[in-house]
Amino acid sequence: MIETCRAPQELRSKLDAWRRRGQKIALVPTMGALHEGHLDLVRAARGQADKVITSLFVNPTQFAAHEDLDRYPRTETRDSELLSKLGCDLLYMPSKADMYPDGFATTITLSGVTAPLEGTFRPHFFAGVATVVAKLFIQADPDLAFFGEKDWQQLQVVTKMARDLDMRVTIVGVPTRRESDGLAMSSRNAYLTPEQRAIAPALKHALDEVYDAIASDTASATTAGPNAIVNLVAQGFASVDYLAACHAQTLAPWQKGDPLRVLGAAWLGQTRLIDNRGA
Ligand code: PAF
Repeated sequence: MIETCRAPQELRSKLDAWRRRGQKIALVPTMGALHEGHLDLVRAARGQADKVITSLFVNPTQFAAHEDLDRYPRTETRDSELLSKLGCDLLYMPSKADMYPDGFATTITLSGVTAPLEGTFRPHFFAGVATVVAKLFIQADPDLAFFGEKDWQQLQVVTKMARDLDMRVTIVGVPTRRESDGLAMSSRNAYLTPEQRAIAPALKHALDEVYDAIASDTASATTAGPNAIVNLVAQGFASVDYLAACHAQTLAPWQKGDPLRVLGAAWLGQTRLIDNRGA
C-alpha cells in the first residue's frame, strides 16, 4: 500500500526529512480518477526525481456552480493501488477544510494567458487552478512538478505563475496519452455514451488537419479554425466552444512566425472535450 498523507503539516514534515537527505522531490498534481495519461506523469517524474508525490484533490474552486463537481469521477481506492504499483512514494489527499479553511480569502489570478479559450468559456477556471496549484507548491515545495500537455493552456498558466512568483519549482509538460483511435485520455471520457465515444476522435483529427494546413501554408489561420468547427458539428458534436490557432506560449491569436499550437474544446451531449496539437 502506498503511504498516504492527509494534512499539510504531515506532508511538510515528511518532505523535510527527504530534503535533508538531499533527495530531489517531484509533485504530480491530480484530481484523481487516474488513467494512463496521469500514470505517464508519474513515470516521467520517477525518471527525474528521487521521490514522487502525487496529490489527489478534486478542487471545488475550479468548477462553476453549473459544472460537474458533484459527478466528477472519484476512484480513490483504485487510484492508490495504481500509484502503489508504479512506485509513487507518497499520495497526498488533503481535505477541503485543509485547503480552504473557513474565511479563506486569497485568489491568484493571471492576466494575458488566462484570457482567451478556456478563459472565455470557463472564466472561473484558471483562478481556481492557479490558487490550488500555488498552495500545493507552497505545501510540498517540490523541485519539479509534472502537468499533462492535454491541458495545454493550463500548462502555460502554471509555468507563467511559477516564473512570475519566483517559485523555485521547474514545471515539466508531458505529452498527451491517447486511445488507439487518437482520442486524448481524460477522466471525463467516462461520461461518453458509446455513440458519443465513436464520434469523439474527430476532435483530434480536426486539430491535426488545421495544424497541418497552417503549418504547410495551405490554409489561413483565420479560415481553417471556423471551417473545422462547421465540420465537427456536421459530424455530431453538439457545439464547439473554440478551435483556434494560437501562439504556443501566450495563446494570443497566431501570426506568421509564431510557434503554433492549435487548441479546441467541443461538446458531445453534456460532455466537454478539450485537446490540442503542436509541433
Ligand atoms: O489538471 C488537473 O487535474 C487540475 O486542474 C489540477 C492541475 C490538478 C489542479 O486542480
